[in-house]
Amino acid sequence: MSQLVRVKISALGTYVPPRLLTNADLEKMVETSDQWITERTGIRERHIVDKGVATSDLAVEAAKKALAQRGIDPSDLDAILVGTVTPDMFFPSTACLVQNKLGAKGVWGFDLSAACSAFLYALQVGTQFVATGAHKRVMVIGADVMSSIIDYTDRATCIIFGDGAGAVILEPAENDSLGMIDFIHEVDGSGGCSLYMPGGGSLNPSTHETVDQKMHYVHQDGQAVFKFAVRKQTELCEKILERNGIKASDIDVFIAHQANKRIINATAERLALRPESVVINIDRYGNTTAGTIPLAMDTARQEGKLKKGDLVLLASVGAGFTVGATLLRWAY
Ligand code: COA
Repeated sequence: MSQLVRVKISALGTYVPPRLLTNADLEKMVETSDQWITERTGIRERHIVDKGVATSDLAVEAAKKALAQRGIDPSDLDAILVGTVTPDMFFPSTACLVQNKLGAKGVWGFDLSAACSAFLYALQVGTQFVATGAHKRVMVIGADVMSSIIDYTDRATCIIFGDGAGAVILEPAENDSLGMIDFIHEVDGSGGCSLYMPGGGSLNPSTHETVDQKMHYVHQDGQAVFKFAVRKQTELCEKILERNGIKASDIDVFIAHQANKRIINATAERLALRPESVVINIDRYGNTTAGTIPLAMDTARQEGKLKKGDLVLLASVGAGFTVGATLLRWAY
């Protein structure tokens, strides 16, 4: 194996569908209020696809923006990795659909399932392809159409999720002081029963009965997820800071999976991060699952919060349970 090379994110693109679902809209659909949703989650609105628009469509739009920013063609990529829990269909993979829609000739790829942690998990996989010299350019996409698996009569879940996608390009870093620094990931399968979609898989293949029982929708124990998220995200962030000799106050930008504003703030407080380092855009997008971290990177870029050389801490938690933390220095 060739010697490991330093890897950087060289471009970022995001996309959300134009249609908005506001808290006021949800007030008309279920027994809830704008005040309850805002106070308990921080969410004000989310973007939702129109009928016939799928995860690959959002992924392709995000991918095109990243490619345009970098000024390269789709066929200049070596691989496309798609993190998603809402693939267009079981197979072919969404990565194959994206490859075809982009016209990315000679490129391979696959989907990666880790729910809300899928973007960070795919980021590590893609980084290793480049670090080993196996590939020069890998596109990592986090994309989900959560509205396709949400029960819009269930107020405990329908207020949280939105649709969206983000894509980054990974390449060798010419400057050794910039780029990916470290990753830590963990899964705890004992939490599987706290957040899951029971129907449609090999255990409960779709039948009229599984649909009548609403098994094709997200089922969630919100409080169990909340507690695990704060505890475990904090733990992995502490670990990654410690093993790299970095103090919380050194972090310029903290981008956590946008699941709930209270989860993000509780994690940031426990870590004693500087409040101005914390990026929050859940108010605009809700929880877009694999899309939240690239979408929050984009928000931070637009707000002038994420600049070349910034030390960035990423954190994620999701169904599984899956959890992860990533350290990097932003490279452009
Ligand atoms: N509007 C109004 N009331 C609601 C409501 C809604 N949309 N959803 C739940 N409630 C009610 C409950 O029925 C309950 O009423 P009760 O006290 O009469 O029984 C009350 O609000 C409190 O419910 P609870 O579940 O304890 O609320 P919470 O503060 O834990 O907030 C979540 C619920 C789902 C917002 C919160 O638990 C959460 O965000 N969990 C994490 C979920 C998550 O991040 N999932 C994705 C992981 S990647």
